[in-house]
Amino acid sequence: MRILVTGGAGFIGSNFIIYWLKKYPQDTIVNLDALTYAGNLENLKTIEKNPHYEFVHGNICDTQLVNKLASNTDTMVHFAAESHVDRSIIDAAPFIKTNVEGTYVLLEAARKNKILRFHHISTDEVFGALKLDSKEKFGDHTPYNPRSPYSASKAASDHIVRAYHTTYNLPITISNCSNNFGPFQFPEKFIPLAISNIIEGKKVPVYGDGLYVRDWLYVDDHCRAIDLILQKGEVGKTYLIGGLTEDISNIKIIKKILRIMGKDDNQIEYVKDRPGHDRRYAIDWSTIHKELGWSPNYNFDQALEETIDWYKHNSIWLKRIKSGTYTEYYQTQYGK
Ligand code: NAD
Ligand code: DAU
Repeated sequence: MRILVTGGAGFIGSNFIIYWLKKYPQDTIVNLDALTYAGNLENLKTIEKNPHYEFVHGNICDTQLVNKLASNTDTMVHFAAESHVDRSIIDAAPFIKTNVEGTYVLLEAARKNKILRFHHISTDEVFGALKLDSKEKFGDHTPYNPRSPYSASKAASDHIVRAYHTTYNLPITISNCSNNFGPFQFPEKFIPLAISNIIEGKKVPVYGDGLYVRDWLYVDDHCRAIDLILQKGEVGKTYLIGGLTEDISNIKIIKKILRIMGKDDNQIEYVKDRPGHDRRYAIDWSTIHKELGWSPNYNFDQALEETIDWYKHNSIWLKRIKSGTYTEYYQTQYGK
């Protein structure tokens, strides 16, 4: 396979490239990434000299570049996005540009160049929010109800991808996955932000009452699910991917992290809530389990410990990330 990965210098994309080249060393990956604040080539140090890997610095909205790359590609795996909800609340513009327009540019190139598969990486946030203490889960038939500029832009992109299948018969698949965590995640997201603040002896900001619930999945399990969809997934179909956590609240996660890192709960700081904060996510992933045999390999507690260890052992990676515009963003979001 000759795969064009978009956004491969980000968290999930870089884990995916490393996963793929280890498992399928005969395949070739071209990684198109604009290197926004979230893109980091250090994530790919271990494979940067691999002759089956090429990095292209560019934007998915660049029609000419995308067309050129698509002409030499059989499969596209589209991760590139603006991905952080809080940033979408500060400024939605880059979310509309990259997530909506960028996806359209890729789809057009895929269509013109008769790509064999376009796999779109999406999120469970397109379904909106579930009630706390309900048993309900997002399933194959849950209607879309995005509530943040981020999730609305991802929802728009999902609809456009599906429309290209219906209208032009483009061979697409989509996956809507829950919250990932693991190595190389940018420390603006909840788990790595908590770990990195604790390493630096800072307080951990918890939004609102801290009783919000996410469905957590270790990033390697997400990569394995994408692999199965690419190998055995049904063209035109959408697969839901989720983890093994049973309604664990944010505050319980922070307490777990503090305990693992040998700190006490005094490091928790309740801060102003996120506007429109989705209360609860939970995913019914029985379809991908039944049809493709996927289920998560990693138990949450074990994966959380491994992730904490990874951040402790990669302090230089963390320091470099935090030395850029990170501080500026942190101050806008959390104050001094
Ligand atoms: P990330 O923010 O860590 O990485 C995004 C990458 O895309 C970066 O390398 C960035 O430089 C690149 N990028 C951004 N705009 C670009 C553009 N215009 N052109 C080219 N490259 C561009 O994101 P992530 O957490 O790895 O998420 C990857 C994908 O997975 C996204 O589509 C996201 O919506 C989806 N997703 C994420 C999660 C999660 O928990 N992180 C869960 C489900 C789905
Ligand atoms: O569900 C999948 C989505 O998960 C992905 O599509 C997104 O790209 C990804 O960013 C993530 O979105 P969330 O908004 O759920 O993740 P985040 O890590 O920002 O927040 C997780 C929870 O923690 C959420 O309830 C908000 C809360 N939180 C977050 C931060 C950054 C805090 O309490 N304090 C914080 O400082």
